[in-house]
Amino acid sequence: MLFGALTLFFLPFFSGAYAANDWSVACKGECSYDIIDPARRANMKISGASSAVSDITPAGGWTILTCDAGKLVQDIRLVCHASGCEHLFEGQGAVDTLVRLPETCGSGAFARVAKIQVDNNQSLPSNIKSTLTQAGNVTSTVFILSVDVDFAAVNVSKTGPVSLSIEGYNFPVDNLNNSTSKRGLKTRNWTEFNSTDSVDLPSLKVDQTFPVLSASVDCNDFSASVSASFETKIDATVSIGLVVVGTVIPPAITEIAVFGGLVGDVLATLQLSASATGTVSTGEVSLYSVALGGIDFPGILSLGPTFTIYGDVRATLDATLDLAVDLAYSVTAKGYYPPATQTSLGSSTAANSTLTLSVLPDVTTTGHINASITPQLALGLTAFTDVKADVSLNFAGSLSSRLSLDASANATVGNSGKAATGSADGCFGIDAALSVYLAADGDLFGLIENSTTYQIYYNKWDLYKQCFTASGSTKRALPEAVVQRRDNSDSGLTCPASSSVTSLEQIIDQIIDAMEAAV
Ligand SMILES: *[C@@H]1O[C@H](CO)[C@@H](O)[C@H](O)[C@H]1NC(C)=O
Ligand SMILES: *[C@@H]1O[C@H](CO)[C@@H](O)[C@H](O)[C@H]1NC(C)=O
Ligand SMILES: *[C@@H]1O[C@H](CO)[C@@H](O)[C@H](O)[C@H]1NC(C)=O
Ligand SMILES: *[C@@H]1O[C@H](CO)[C@@H](O)[C@H](O)[C@H]1NC(C)=O
Ligand SMILES: *[C@@H]1O[C@H](CO)[C@@H](O)[C@H](O)[C@H]1NC(C)=O
Ligand SMILES: *[C@@H]1O[C@H](CO)[C@@H](O)[C@H](O)[C@H]1NC(C)=O
Ligand SMILES: *[C@@H]1O[C@H](CO)[C@@H](O)[C@H](O)[C@H]1NC(C)=O
Ligand SMILES: *[C@@H]1O[C@H](CO)[C@@H](O)[C@H](O)[C@H]1NC(C)=O
Ligand SMILES: *[C@@H]1O[C@H](CO)[C@@H](O)[C@H](O)[C@H]1NC(C)=O
Ligand SMILES: *[C@@H]1O[C@H](CO)[C@@H](O)[C@H](O)[C@H]1NC(C)=O
Ligand SMILES: *[C@@H]1O[C@H](CO)[C@@H](O)[C@H](O)[C@H]1NC(C)=O
Repeated sequence: MLFGALTLFFLPFFSGAYAANDWSVACKGECSYDIIDPARRANMKISGASSAVSDITPAGGWTILTCDAGKLVQDIRLVCHASGCEHLFEGQGAVDTLVRLPETCGSGAFARVAKIQVDNNQSLPSNIKSTLTQAGNVTSTVFILSVDVDFAAVNVSKTGPVSLSIEGYNFPVDNLNNSTSKRGLKTRNWTEFNSTDSVDLPSLKVDQTFPVLSASVDCNDFSASVSASFETKIDATVSIGLVVVGTVIPPAITEIAVFGGLVGDVLATLQLSASATGTVSTGEVSLYSVALGGIDFPGILSLGPTFTIYGDVRATLDATLDLAVDLAYSVTAKGYYPPATQTSLGSSTAANSTLTLSVLPDVTTTGHINASITPQLALGLTAFTDVKADVSLNFAGSLSSRLSLDASANATVGNSGKAATGSADGCFGIDAALSVYLAADGDLFGLIENSTTYQIYYNKWDLYKQCFTASGSTKRALPEAVVQRRDNSDSGLTCPASSSVTSLEQIIDQIIDAMEAAV
């Protein structure tokens, strides 16, 4: 009923058949709802005074006549078929009692009774009539029961508090701790979930090319443009889990612990093609986003994870170039919140990268291309729809590469013609960095601090580095482009001087040749 599968697609929360609940025993004062299937485990328990928690399933003495399986707030038409149904009216009365709902009724496992009245229409289908046992005051009476999830509306001094505990994972757990209701949260040993390595975790595969940038400018007899894209291949597994302790009445969460883990390979190929000069920037853009099935106890607590890939490309170009570079790494990281309770774990290895680059040789050639691609696992946590507390745990891996191309020389236009003097010190390098951090946003009953980040892991490596030096001067005629200055037209782009393209080595050779020839 309450647990979507963690796959690339958001599956509706399934119901009934998968839940391991004891439907033969009526809930009186305490109740639990479990989901146990080969791929996940989740358990929710509520517990309070006997009259505070009741049951409108057949075990509780009720037969549902009409009910919407997809709603949290609704009027349910039901008939009492056995004297056990009278439990609903005990203590503070039916109103404000938390009731367990049958699988076919309501989108949540539990609801609050907002109102109850005897239905004007007491007629019953004959097949139901035959199941009624005439043993109590209200047996065979048809009621309209209005239910909602407005737990804050309950007067706790009448019902007493109703405690809540939830534990859930998107993978099979042998030892789901039955004792979280006894405040076992603090003793929960999260590191034992290192064993997630040995279970089949839901996999996340992305194989797609995302355009991130495309800008162009019209030049005299051609058009110049800059375009960039990330070809992304991600093959990873995702593990998530949470433990929550609090009260449904009054709605509050007193303890929470969550974790998210990502293990896999990331390959992002940045392709950049520029035939214009200038500065372009995309800012951080979301390239891809998918909702993963999570843990949902509607109206009480939901963990709705999403996987998003952010990309960012900023380039300042004085050159015409074509570039394709791989940002490739394998990563293993787990983040825990609150971070103090457990050691967060992370490691990565840079995978082999290939680089192809070609640049149009201008004497003054500088370029900075900063690109980053950030896969992010965000665990969107929402507690009590009415309380509107919302928190997300972000578990983001990011890789940023910096490419700088700096072959510069001074060009002057003198009386005797165009000339360049000086030295060319060029370096072309790409640094890669991977930063894994945990970020908390929002405020969940003061348990999660807004806008805080925790570094889990940081690694930086050189992807490519090549330097060259030359000095001298030349009287050789230089192309007009040498003295061309970037203007600040709206697109940030300027028309280049020409459109022939050679490799980096050729450029370097050409600059060095020019310098040496002049000495
Ligand atoms: C009364 O309820 C029965 C089913 O329980 C239904 O068939 C009938 O249409 C209802 N009558 C009115 C007047 O709503
Ligand atoms: C049922 O009737 C008995 C005796 O009249 C009464 O004490 C009891 O409160 C009634 N129960 C309900 C649920 O009305
Ligand atoms: C809650 O119930 C108590 C005792 O029944 C009563 O004194 C109090 O006024 C109620 N509070 C509200 C807000 O209804
Ligand atoms: C949890 O409770 C169930 C049923 O009450 C029991 O079968 C199981 O062994 C318990 N597990 C642990 C770890 O205590
Ligand atoms: C379950 O919680 C209890 C505390 O209530 C703790 O003693 C026990 O070690 C926990 N079991 C597991 C498997 O974490
Ligand atoms: C969990 O994995 C990390 C990294 O692989 C390791 O350092 C740590 O000792 C492991 N913890 C346990 C309890 O196995
Ligand atoms: C946590 O679990 C791991 C693996 O099951 C175990 O080695 C370690 O001793 C446990 N730590 C505590 C504090 O119980
Ligand atoms: C790229 O990053 C470096 C250092 O992080 C910075 O100095 C440079 O200005 C950036 N370039 C662009 C085009 O954003
Ligand atoms: C890189 O490639 C070499 C040769 O093909 C191979 O031996 C090595 O394992 C690769 N490294 C990684 C991290 O894939
Ligand atoms: C260019 O000229 C400036 C000032 O004349 C000088 O400081 C600089 O070092 C020169 N650069 C090169 C690469 O020669
Ligand atoms: C969290 O912080 C951001 C900015 O730092 C702010 O806009 C937002 O309102 C804060 N949220 C809460 C719940 O405090």
